Amino acid sequence: MDRMKPMDPITATPEWLALARHFETVRDRHLRDLFAEDPRRGETMTLEAADLFLDYSKQRITAETVPLLVAVAERAGLRRRIDAMFNGEKINVTEDRAVLHVALRAPEDAVIEVDGANVVPEVHAVLRKMASFAERVRDGSWTGYTGRRIRTVINIGIGGSDLGPAMAYEALKDSSLREMDFRFVSNVDGTDLFEAVHPLDPAETLFIVSSKTFTTLETLTNARTARGWLLNSSHGLGDEAAVAKHFVAVSTNESEVRNFGIDPANMFEFWDWVGGRYSMDSAIGLSLMIAIGKNHFREMLDGFHAIDEHFRTAPLERNMPVLMGMLGVWYGDLFGAETQAVLPYSQHLVRFPDYLQQLEMESNGKRVRLDGSPVEMQTGPTVWGTPGTSGQHAYYQLLHQGTKLIPADFIGFLAPSHEVGQHHDLLMANLFAQTEALAFGRTHEEVEAEGVPAWLAPHKEMPGNRPTNTILAPALTPRTLGELVALYEHRVFTMGTIWGIDSFDQWGVELGKALAQRIVPELQATDEPDLRHDSSTNALIRRYRSARER
Ligand code: F6P
Repeated sequence: MDRMKPMDPITATPEWLALARHFETVRDRHLRDLFAEDPRRGETMTLEAADLFLDYSKQRITAETVPLLVAVAERAGLRRRIDAMFNGEKINVTEDRAVLHVALRAPEDAVIEVDGANVVPEVHAVLRKMASFAERVRDGSWTGYTGRRIRTVINIGIGGSDLGPAMAYEALKDSSLREMDFRFVSNVDGTDLFEAVHPLDPAETLFIVSSKTFTTLETLTNARTARGWLLNSSHGLGDEAAVAKHFVAVSTNESEVRNFGIDPANMFEFWDWVGGRYSMDSAIGLSLMIAIGKNHFREMLDGFHAIDEHFRTAPLERNMPVLMGMLGVWYGDLFGAETQAVLPYSQHLVRFPDYLQQLEMESNGKRVRLDGSPVEMQTGPTVWGTPGTSGQHAYYQLLHQGTKLIPADFIGFLAPSHEVGQHHDLLMANLFAQTEALAFGRTHEEVEAEGVPAWLAPHKEMPGNRPTNTILAPALTPRTLGELVALYEHRVFTMGTIWGIDSFDQWGVELGKALAQRIVPELQATDEPDLRHDSSTNALIRRYRSARER
């Protein structure tokens, strides 16, 4: 897409207007009636992709809705844009970059070109380098400076250089080397690093400094403090030479890695065509590969690739990420929903909603289109959630009886991660019960028929008609985790295409970073600084300085 060419708003197209007219006929329909009219709805409104099964029958749609949504997607050029991504075109226009996370999981014989050069061989070369290092750490042949084997790996990174491996490590703990410990430090709050290293022995600790740019304040601050801890003469190793055995880097920026003091031989490379929040399959996944081993890591990449192929080739109306993306547009732009809940019924997916927050909100939290004109519709939702069933006893009340419409994705696994008593049956019964209750609720009549007094009945009535997806996979494995993440990546892509935005930049995070850099010396100055912020910010800085006796 030419970045300067003015774009026609999707909302002015006949396809969108047809969808909007259709919406008027559907908005007040209840799922109770839609299910009563079509008894097979629960079997037909389903889709399979690789190992994933999607039941979208509890969505507020009719048989006409999907073709109308697909017509909008076609009008927005989704097919062309998918091809552009897979062909290495520079679809991240504001940064003039290709967007090729799909190349990170492509098989070795694939050809994916950026500026005329096939990137797949270098992807596999780095995977081999990672695998060789990971195996040496796992089998103990990579030792620390004093010859002891590494027992704890600490990934220092933030955002996309933290959330992917942190989320996947939790998800795949059952596939990990349990005798090693893996920790993830991201926050510049010194507590994060302090708590991570506090009980550890530096001689057995390996730090992986992960940063695409290698200039990120939090990561470099944490990495410097970690180096101080390692070299500290009272409890640490006391010799600069130890850094080479206890620090490795993952980055696109070799010169900054060298400046930090890490030998480029111990650097694992990736490329500017990998966005931070799309980088867990690159060398950013090194900590994860050490945890789960190269074979499980490959299985995860194969899962990603299976969904990439589905997204690239399946017809749009049977394309799972496309359908989920278009349902996101349906609720956000027609029903006016502002948030999207993602509710995994697996404790191992405890970090999955955090991961999706960056993926969706940093990608689609945009207000102008590729041509710089305002998007005159709602863009990315606020994404949130926690593993079931804990949330049921906290915030589900609002999902069931609150005044807000919150579409929710329920994710479950047919086989448990841990076969413990009847836990899994109870877990899955709750998942199925929640989507049933959200869809069908309990009518006033049903409540009264139970003998509830008239004054209490409105409080006990459940309106229902709350839309959900149910996503099921056979089990949580490296492969199905890869499939799930790719599913959401391509859902994000689909929605960004409809809105005509750049889902791959993140300019909105820059101002806060720049202002913080300006405020740091004002907090630390020994003389009273000349504060030129607004009155609130000035007063807050003075209050802090005074508490710190500056
Ligand atoms: O500040 C946002 C961001 O740039 C994210 O997009 C990125 O994932 C994160 O910071 C970390 O960046 P880096 O890997 O360059 O340290």
